[in-house]
Order: sequence, then structure tokens, then C-alpha cells
Amino acid sequence: MFSFSEQNNFFGRRCVWVNGPVIVGAGPSGLAISACLKDQGIPFVVIERSDCIASLWQKRTYDRLKLHLPKRFCQLPKVPFPEEYPEYPTKNQFVAYLEEYAKKFDIKPQFNECVQSAKFDEACKLWRVKTVSTAGSVRSETEYICQMLVVATGENAEGVIPEIEGLKEFSGEVIHAKDYKTGVKYAGKNVLVVGCGNSGMEVSLDLANHNAKPSMVMRSSVHVLPREMLGKSTFDLAMMLMAWLPLWIVDRILLIIAWFTLGNLETFGIKRPSLGPLTLKNHHGKTPVLDIGALDKIKSGEITVVPGIKRFTGKTVELVNNEVLNIDSVILATGYFSNVPFWLHEKEFFAENGFPKTPFPNGWKGKGGLYAAGFTRRGLAGASADAVKISKDIGKAWKKELNQKKQKVPTHRRCISTF
Ligand SMILES: Cc1cc2nc3c(=O)[nH]c(=O)nc-3n(C[C@H](O)[C@H](O)[C@H](O)COP(=O)(O)OP(=O)(O)OC[C@H]3O[C@@H](n4cnc5c(N)ncnc54)[C@H](O)[C@@H]3O)c2cc1C
Ligand SMILES: NC(=O)c1ccc[n+]([C@@H]2O[C@H](COP(=O)([O-])OP(=O)(O)OC[C@H]3O[C@@H](n4cnc5c(N)ncnc54)[C@H](OP(=O)(O)O)[C@@H]3O)[C@@H](O)[C@H]2O)c1
Repeated sequence: MFSFSEQNNFFGRRCVWVNGPVIVGAGPSGLAISACLKDQGIPFVVIERSDCIASLWQKRTYDRLKLHLPKRFCQLPKVPFPEEYPEYPTKNQFVAYLEEYAKKFDIKPQFNECVQSAKFDEACKLWRVKTVSTAGSVRSETEYICQMLVVATGENAEGVIPEIEGLKEFSGEVIHAKDYKTGVKYAGKNVLVVGCGNSGMEVSLDLANHNAKPSMVMRSSVHVLPREMLGKSTFDLAMMLMAWLPLWIVDRILLIIAWFTLGNLETFGIKRPSLGPLTLKNHHGKTPVLDIGALDKIKSGEITVVPGIKRFTGKTVELVNNEVLNIDSVILATGYFSNVPFWLHEKEFFAENGFPKTPFPNGWKGKGGLYAAGFTRRGLAGASADAVKISKDIGKAWKKELNQKKQKVPTHRRCISTF
């Protein structure tokens, strides 16, 4: 079934006809779709800019990272986590699970190829996906031509580097959280962690565990919830309650339990948003922090919470309350963004922020064979749900196409010969 016809086009670019969908990204979303397609015998090509699967997990996360939801909410379709895995698998366990997953379904991405542009050719009703090689010194280009395109490049494709006065001239080290691995080298150092989402909290915790002196910038507010409540994971409890109660009541319940468990966090400089944690997540995509120890370090003074930044000068930072801190390093835990608008020439389905315009659960299918996987702001559970829906839909289209092929020669075959 897998037919892959290659030719060099007029400009010396390798041209590949893909008999099936092209999937951009070999993260959990791309792997999950690949597995579901393999199961139906549908051919596909996965394009990955890095040299490995799940590059976010393998190359752009810190060592102490663990899944923050129980494992049953994080497994990909068709393969549960090994029984001996703990409730919250480590990053290495998760990567091992994904490697095994790729092996089981014989998923072999085209590594070291970065998609630079993808455009729907209206005349031929085909997608033209152009890539450049990211390995070696010789730049080579490939054009994939296909009827279906699955965007699985992730919500966290690139790190946000904020524009803050003086940051570029700061004389110490400045890195994004995606490049932070461990606090070992920061022992005894004053480190400014910008941002207080899950990354900011966990990097600060790791720094404190390695005897560094982290100051964590909280410029607005954040919901911090315990990872477990009433003997259940907070996520599990929230899901159960949401099946019976409206969102705002579930929010109230979670906040009351959090107050009893964690106490009044305002005392430590942590302001809570006016909207509840689930409402905020649903309407603004802002994830609550699931605490795994940072709060204790804040309470003990090992992590200091500081307000927003005014400017950097030399090796100091001036805060909005006019306080000036001497710092050795800055870690930007300032979040991530989708890179879709930089390469996908399409404005109807994807919004300017690189997420589908239609909200969950309907933002997985566009027009002309375009799909989006892993943009639900619902982590791995959302990625799996997308994969199941997309692969079923592709399966239907594939069967229809096969039936039509039995009757006549498809027009796109004739069209491609003109490239
Ligand atoms: C630090 C951190 C911890 C997280 N922890 C959890 C957690 O515990 N539980 C949870 O559910 N979620 C967690 N998430 C969210 C996480 O992003 C997703 O769960 C998961 O990785 C999404 O998978 P994905 O395949 O959609 O995206 P990704 O994992 O980001 O994979 C996308 C792939 O696309 C590739 N790519 C991007 N652009 C291009 C291009 N132009 N051309 C070719 N390839 C490209 C990337 O290299 C990458 O390999 C975490 C995120 C971060 C940043
Ligand atoms: N498994 C895990 O435990 C784990 C660990 C890490 C991350 N994650 C997931 O990864 C995703 C990304 O998380 P994240 O924490 O990296 O990003 P995030 O949730 O988007 O948080 C970014 C933080 O940076 C702050 N910020 C941005 N620009 C700033 C500026 N100029 N000055 C000061 N502060 C600034 C934001 O403040 P404002 O709120 O004021 O904008 C926010 O606190 C989330 O889905 C998260 O759940 C999971």
C-alpha cells in the first residue's frame, strides 16, 4: 500500500508523492495518529525537525520532570503504560514508553527535516509541504505532495522570550526553561526565575533543592492546587465532579479544598485569579499549577516570590516595587507558543496564535484534508482524543478513495505530473 514516488523537480528539490497523509511532528500526537493509521493499514509519512521522536520530552525538558497527571490519563491509544510504572511516570519512563510505542507500530519518521511551508494547491486539491534538512552542512530541500495534512507540531513548539528592558544587555546567563536541565551548577547562586506556571514553580523547586537562591517572578496571579485532594488526583476529582456539577461549583469546591490543604497563599505573595481554575483554563487556556513541593519551599523562604520586572541593568534587576536584586542568572519560564503561523499558509482553520479557531472538542478538522492534533490545551489526553477522531476520519476518506479508484483514475494523479 505504501507508495512513495520520488523525482527531482525543475529547481533541484526532491519531490515526493505521499500516498496517504503527511503528519508534521513526531511528538505524542504525531505518534498516536501514526499508530491508529497503521492499525487501519493506511500509509503515511511523519516529518520531524529533530533527530528523535518526542523531542520536547527528550531534549527540551528538565531532568526532574514527571507527568503531572496520573498515568491512565496520559497513555496513547492502544497501549497502556506498563503496570510496574508509578502513578506519575518520570520523563525517562515516558520517553521509554514512547520509544516502545513507535517500535510496536513501526513508525519511522523522516528525521532532521523541518517543515518550512505548507500550502493547499486549489487547482490540484493537494497539499504541497516543503522541508529543509536540519542535519549536516549541505542544505537539502524536499517537497512532499499529499491529499491530507496533519499538523502535530505542538502547543509548545517554541519558547517565549519576552521583551524586557535591559534583558539583552544583562551580563549574566539568560536561558529559557526549555534549556534548563538541573540546578547542580547554580548552587549558591542568585537565580531569577521569570514566570510562575508549572515550569517556573518546578525550576524554582529544583534550584532550591540544589542550594541555589531562586527568586520567582509573579507579575499577575496564579492558581496553585495540590496535585492530590481527598486521596485522589486533583485532575481525577475535577473530572468526576464535572460530570455532575456546573464548572463554577467545581471551581469553588477545588478552591475550598485547596484553601484547607495549602492555607492562605496571599501571605506568601501568591495572588489567586478572580476566575476559578477550570473556568480560567477553559476560557483563557491558563493551566493551574499542580504543586509538587514548591509551595513548601516558598513557605520556608527557600524560594522568594517577587513582583513583576521593570528593567535589567548589568547584573541587577529592578522590580515594579522598586526593589533591586543582584542576580547571577535568569531563567525564562515564560511559556511557549505554536509555530504553525510561520509555515502553514492557511487562515480559515488556524487562528493567528497558531491554534485552531474552533474550540475543543471540534478543532481537529479543517477543509481540504487538513487536521490538527494536540492543540486542545488538554495535554496528552487531548492529543489521544484527537488522534482517534482524526484517524477514523482519514480511514473513512481512505476507504471512499479506494472505492472510487476501483472505478476511475483519480484526477490528482494527472495533475501532479505537471509539477
Ligand atoms: C515542560 C513540559 C511538561 C509537560 N508535562 C505534561 C504532562 O505531564 N502531561 C500532559 O498531558 N502534558 C504535558 N505537557 C504538555 C505537552 O506539550 C504535551 O502533553 C505533549 O508533548 C504534546 O504532544 P504533541 O505531539 O502535541 O507536541 P510535542 O510534544 O511538542 O511534539 C511536536 C513535535 O513536532 C516537531 N515540530 C515542530 N515544528 C516542526 C516543524 N516545523 N517541522 C517538523 N517538525 C516540527 C517538534 O520537534 C516535536 O517533536 C508538558 C509540556 C511541557 C513544556
Ligand atoms: N508535567 C509537569 O509537571 C509540567 C511542568 C512544566 C510545564 N508543564 C506544562 O507545560 C505548559 C507550559 O507551562 P509553562 O509554565 O512553561 O508556561 P505557562 O503556563 O504559559 O506560564 C508562563 C508564565 O510566565 C509568565 N510570564 C510570561 N511573560 C512574562 C514576563 N514578561 N514577565 C513576567 N512573567 C511573565 C506568565 O505570567 P502571566 O500569567 O502573568 O502571563 C506565567 O506565569 C503548561 O501546559 C504546563 O502545564 C507541565
